[in-house]
Amino acid sequence: MFLFKRKDTNRTLPKHIAIIMDGNGRWAKKRSMPRSAGHVAGAKTFKDIARYCNKIGLEYLTVYAFSTENWKRPKDEIESIMNLLRDYLKDAENFKSDNIRVKFIGNLEPLADDIKELIKKDEEGSKDATGLKLNIAINYGGRDEITNAVKKIVKSGVDAESITEQTISDNLYTSDMPDPDFIIRPSGEYRLSNYLIWQSAYAEYWFSDVLWPDFKPHHLEKAIDEYNHRNRRFGGV
Ligand code: FPP
Repeated sequence: MFLFKRKDTNRTLPKHIAIIMDGNGRWAKKRSMPRSAGHVAGAKTFKDIARYCNKIGLEYLTVYAFSTENWKRPKDEIESIMNLLRDYLKDAENFKSDNIRVKFIGNLEPLADDIKELIKKDEEGSKDATGLKLNIAINYGGRDEITNAVKKIVKSGVDAESITEQTISDNLYTSDMPDPDFIIRPSGEYRLSNYLIWQSAYAEYWFSDVLWPDFKPHHLEKAIDEYNHRNRRFGGV
């Protein structure tokens, strides 16, 4: 019921995979390179993995590119990530030919005006794509998202007793998509870091020591293989 047939094999796919793209800094440090070089390599991996997910027929992929907490990083590092985002957005035509629909989730308001413009253009330009639905989380924080949802609900003047879990879900950035079934975090960290905390209540998790820039399609395949052996009961028996 929760599994989808892959395009290229008879194996099954989760409907929605979410990835925490972690380990760029350590990847660069291991090579005595600046952290920004790790993000450049991470951005390449992101594009390769998104294309691979599209190729195998995944329906939803959501990646964590910048969190509400990442503003605490040095200014030049933040700028390097924003510039990679700019490059990616300007390169959106390439993704168009891939038939990937792109959507950004997070509080986009504090982003630079040119980035916001490019995001609008990119979302609009890819809205009719029928392949992978790619969500990029920027200035995203799960607690921030839930706080904003509560504000919206209170402002709507709804009767408190009529609020259900669905009311909360309907007011999140992800209201138009299913919850992630599978969360992948490379780089040897075993935490969620404020990522999709409401949506991942029943998700399966997969961790690996590989650093994000070294993450290849075969790692994803290994993760999916493991997912296929998980027994999801959603609180039942
Ligand atoms: C976490 O690794 C990674 C980030 C905070 C940035 C992720 C950004 C990209 C992959 C590139 C830009 C994305 C797009 C959509 C173009 P880290 O820096 O925390 O690594 P560390 O834990 O080893 O220090």
